[in-house]
Amino acid sequence: MAIPIELDHSSRESLQGQLFEQLRNLILGGKLKPGTLIPASRVLAEQLGISRNTVLLVYDRLIAEGYLQARKAIGTYVNLELPETCLAATRRTSTLVPVRGETVKRPVIPFIGQPPTVNQTQHLDFDFCPDRIGFDLFPHKIWRRFINRTFTSASTHFTECCDPAGLSQLREVIAAHLGVARAISVSPEQIIITAGSQEGLNLAARLLVKEGTLVATENPCYHGAKSLFESYYAKLIQIPVDEEGLDVAQLPREGVSLLYVTPSHQFPLGFTLPIERRLKLLDWARRCGAFIIEDDYDSDFRYRGSPLTALMGLDDHGCVMYLGTFSKSMGAGLRLGYLVVPKSLIPAARTAKALLNNGNAWLDQATMADFIQSGAYGNHLRRMRNIYSKRHDCLIEALREHFGEVQLSGLESGLHLAWHLPESYPDASELRAIALRHGVGVYSIGSGTTFAFGKCGYSARTLVLGFSSLNEYQIRAGVRRMADVFSGLPADFIFSGTDARAEPASIL
Ligand SMILES: Cc1ncc(COP(=O)(O)O)c(C=O)c1O
Repeated sequence: MAIPIELDHSSRESLQGQLFEQLRNLILGGKLKPGTLIPASRVLAEQLGISRNTVLLVYDRLIAEGYLQARKAIGTYVNLELPETCLAATRRTSTLVPVRGETVKRPVIPFIGQPPTVNQTQHLDFDFCPDRIGFDLFPHKIWRRFINRTFTSASTHFTECCDPAGLSQLREVIAAHLGVARAISVSPEQIIITAGSQEGLNLAARLLVKEGTLVATENPCYHGAKSLFESYYAKLIQIPVDEEGLDVAQLPREGVSLLYVTPSHQFPLGFTLPIERRLKLLDWARRCGAFIIEDDYDSDFRYRGSPLTALMGLDDHGCVMYLGTFSKSMGAGLRLGYLVVPKSLIPAARTAKALLNNGNAWLDQATMADFIQSGAYGNHLRRMRNIYSKRHDCLIEALREHFGEVQLSGLESGLHLAWHLPESYPDASELRAIALRHGVGVYSIGSGTTFAFGKCGYSARTLVLGFSSLNEYQIRAGVRRMADVFSGLPADFIFSGTDARAEPASIL
């Protein structure tokens, strides 16, 4: 009997390995049934044009693993007594085990959508990226000191898991910080420490979203949130945004289980949801039984007016979950954030977190707790606010200097602003492409971490500019280069700047 085996002599895998794999698959796939005699080693070696020794070694291994048996005077045959579990596996896997040349369809879990963060791989001289922080702004020295201090007090912390919901000291200091900074009164039990907001979103989705769940998001919105809900097969409903943030009046009256919103600094347009809308939003959630995820990603940095109370601070009905992150205030590489859940969701959220990863690394949590408790975090925030406030003003000034009366939004807080282009300018995506070719990163809506469903009111005519990873000198030089490049654009490009044409930019 000729066995259907094909060996690839040019393959990196050894002939012995290939032969073993194929014989085993034929047995498991039911093509060589128990009791079937297999060819003598000499015959198979001849058939395949390989050495007899190779075949003997493979037979020995198949015998040792119980697939074959050998008897003097009879020969080598497929084991008659393959254990029941193995036979069951044979039946289960027979369509899944590929025999050479067959293509097999495996049931995989399809991932819908794009990965959320699209990192800029091209080197840029000036990257106005909305979600990056300058390397020089991380408090390296002081953080090292705190890590060392925490390390010395480790005792059993490296060898035992801590509470999956997070280190109690960290949750306590976060609860205290939220009370002062965001007027949210929560108990530490409501806080789940996460690896950034993204894990917080995941946790919330795990609790509330399944296939077909109606989830409402702003349009435009944060790519990371939209993709995450899609990956849970949610049905997304897009709610338009105007100059006061989410247009609450356009929310469906019923059916929505969850709303994701960025009230303090709408991402990416930067509008702030006024108090009337906040109250209407809470009323809507109460009436239609929906939960709200409040993503408060950058409200530590506020430059104008007094901070508005967070939605969660106004919520009397336990319908708001609050997402906090240290990605903006410290750095995204720390991967530390938190989800604050209403009391009713504490047990479910704790369980979900335990199932997901049994908690975050102790050292980072303990260091952050100490950092906050000692007052060092408060000092760091003050220093950052001061620096970012100067960068923020510098960007606005530079845009006005080179482009005249620019229409901007999102100036009250955060680490980016949105520039609404006049009708006479090319589309934002075209400007982005042109700027990129000249080493300047600016972001149209739909690029980077921003997303728009279809053509939302702002998608074609808005550029998003972050200022946290460039110093004032770089900001001025980057805007100057932008002006220089854009001023060279033909046709109806209206250039209303004051001095860029008269005085060509001196580019770094
Ligand atoms: C809207 C929004 N939420 C959250 C985050 C932070 O995400 P993470 O905490 O997962 O780093 C960002 C970062 O850019 C963001 O833009």
